Amino acid sequence: MNRSYSPIIIGCDHAAFNLKKILIDYLKKKEIKIKDAGTFNEDSVDYPNIAAKVASAVSEKKYEKGILMCGTGIGMSIAANRFSGVRAALCNNLFSAEMSRRHNNSNLLVMGGRVIGDILAIEILNKWLATPFERGRHQKRIEIFDAVIR
Ligand code: RB5
Repeated sequence: MNRSYSPIIIGCDHAAFNLKKILIDYLKKKEIKIKDAGTFNEDSVDYPNIAAKVASAVSEKKYEKGILMCGTGIGMSIAANRFSGVRAALCNNLFSAEMSRRHNNSNLLVMGGRVIGDILAIEILNKWLATPFERGRHQKRIEIFDAVIR
């Protein structure tokens, strides 16, 4: 099926630099436009700074969706979820990727480059991109984030 996707902003730290390259190549083959927020080599960087670049762009609706990767994905997801309107989901398996879209309408996919292999990462990305939000009772629940949690 031919689908059109909106541009995606993507970032990583040194621990997932190689995985970012692989995912960018993959997204380009799918003709999805990407904005690369770095990091741009394997020199050690502080992941919250990259998370802030990507998550702020999603929070400000400059990009509908973002992708972040670090060694485990944990630091990036903690940092990204501090931004209003960001629903960052750490998905190192396919079921989490699917459910994060169906139930949580996740707008930022996080993966751990030291946790999963490249092939699984691509499969997770595909599942995340292809899965729609179910809305219904889940819509009300995600609205509580903005209403109650600040
Ligand atoms: C970097 O060594 C590592 O701490 C980082 O990539 C990430 O796993 C943090 O959560």
